[in-house]
Amino acid sequence: MYNQGAVEGAANTESGSRVFVYEVVGLRQSEETAQINYPIRKSGSVFIRVPYNRMNQEMRRITRLGGTIVSIQPMSSLQAINGTSTSAGFANNKGDGNATPVSTTSDKKGNTMTQAQPKKGAKANVPVNIYRPNNPYIGKCISNEPLVGENGIGIVQHLKFDVSAGDLKYVEGQSIGIIPPGVDKNGKPEKLRLYSIASTRHGDDVDDKTVSLCVRQLEYKHPESGETVYGVCSTYLCHLEPGADVKITGPVGKEMLLPDDPDAKIIMMGTGTGIAPMRTYLWRMFKDAERAANPEYQFKGFAWLIFGVPTTPNILYKEELEEIQQKYPDNFRLTYAISREQKNPQGGRMYIQDRVAEHADELWQLIKDEKTHTYICGLRGMEGGIDEALSAAAAKEGVNWSDYQKQLKKAHRWHVETY
Ligand SMILES: Cc1cc2nc3c(=O)[nH]c(=O)nc-3n(C[C@H](O)[C@H](O)[C@H](O)COP(=O)(O)OP(=O)(O)OC[C@H]3O[C@@H](n4cnc5c(N)ncnc54)[C@H](O)[C@@H]3O)c2cc1C
Ligand SMILES: NC(=O)c1ccc[n+]([C@@H]2O[C@H](COP(=O)([O-])OP(=O)(O)OC[C@H]3O[C@@H](n4cnc5c(N)ncnc54)[C@H](OP(=O)(O)O)[C@@H]3O)[C@@H](O)[C@H]2O)c1
Repeated sequence: MYNQGAVEGAANTESGSRVFVYEVVGLRQSEETAQINYPIRKSGSVFIRVPYNRMNQEMRRITRLGGTIVSIQPMSSLQAINGTSTSAGFANNKGDGNATPVSTTSDKKGNTMTQAQPKKGAKANVPVNIYRPNNPYIGKCISNEPLVGENGIGIVQHLKFDVSAGDLKYVEGQSIGIIPPGVDKNGKPEKLRLYSIASTRHGDDVDDKTVSLCVRQLEYKHPESGETVYGVCSTYLCHLEPGADVKITGPVGKEMLLPDDPDAKIIMMGTGTGIAPMRTYLWRMFKDAERAANPEYQFKGFAWLIFGVPTTPNILYKEELEEIQQKYPDNFRLTYAISREQKNPQGGRMYIQDRVAEHADELWQLIKDEKTHTYICGLRGMEGGIDEALSAAAAKEGVNWSDYQKQLKKAHRWHVETY
């Protein structure tokens, strides 16, 4: 639940005659809610206008009805944003009774979270499926370089493909498909595998002619025979010779896009090859040639990468990441979780979620900022622990993390690609 201090923080800002808007989730349908005159949306989120002198009373009533207040803001700021005065229920201008997600200003404690939805069609310019599996683009491998240092675990390669002869365009956060040669065990042509793009839209040479990937060779013991099995496509890619042709499809994906705002705050949590999209963001934000190529995107916000790897030689793109950190110490923070070298407080392997727990209060404060976007990429197993750590931090302020996270997702500020 929203904490009392936050209400007071908001309420004390101006005279008692002001009206505030509570955004509430979790109101249950009941006899009492049936009597109220604000609409409960399918999502359960409602906006309730509350005069200053009834704020505490209304808060208690919402609690009694099973609701959780997820944001409080002065009515005036919403009217300024919407450019209009609204009536009970905070209905939108379409007259359909639906509440409209809106940007918020922070109260004194910064306890806000909603943000204007991206304008309809904001993602419309994002290229998708330019090349489909039945007619893939034939690119050429330019280079295939190892990313794992001496005594590191397994094989991870950085591959660069020439795509200059076709129409393949992409943006940071998207993936492409690779169709390996040959047939599967049923004699059918191999199907495509998706890989997160590891280069910016301009490519590693900033000439708009290439696309890069970060690929780990899949290797596991067969559960029955105990034999070592190597993945088809990842093995093909990790051993691809420069000069070889490669079938490429896509691009696909709109989940992991970076906001255009150069003042944004970007939290990144990645394990292993989950670094790929994060590399695209960081290069776009900080690399000199990228900054020169994108005069409209001169990043001056804050980026924090929490990167999980098994050993130090497995820190992919280590030198470049640390170079950025040295050059932009105020704008880029780098935290490693090196699972097989560092210990968590319980004496176990240090995972990303342990780092999140260590910095949970700080991360929670950052996440509440409406300019903050969080990106999670890599092993699915990390998600539960991340939620647990942030739940504990949010709970200290009486906020239910799971409800809050739903709102973040709705506001397109919580981005996840895990496998
Ligand atoms: C959106 C997205 C982005 C991705 N990005 C990347 C990326 O950037 N880099 C990257 O390296 N990969 C990435 N992947 C994974 C990639 O698509 C392939 O799944 C991966 O390379 C394995 O493909 P493969 O052909 O080598 O393996 P396959 O030959 O297809 O073998 C995979 C199969 O092996 C079996 N298997 C796997 N592990 C085990 C195990 N431990 N025990 C028993 N059976 C097992 C499973 O049946 C599995 O389906 C991404 C996946 C998605 C969905
Ligand atoms: N199927 C797919 O789609 C796909 C795609 C890419 C990679 N993979 C496979 O995924 C595995 C990881 O490869 P990678 O190169 O991306 O990563 P990696 O370099 O092996 O690093 C993964 C890191 O995450 C840690 N980790 C393991 N379980 C975790 C959990 N539950 N929560 C948080 N962290 C955890 C690992 O720790 P420890 O190992 O020390 O426990 C390691 O430090 C490989 O087996 C790879 O073949 C699968």
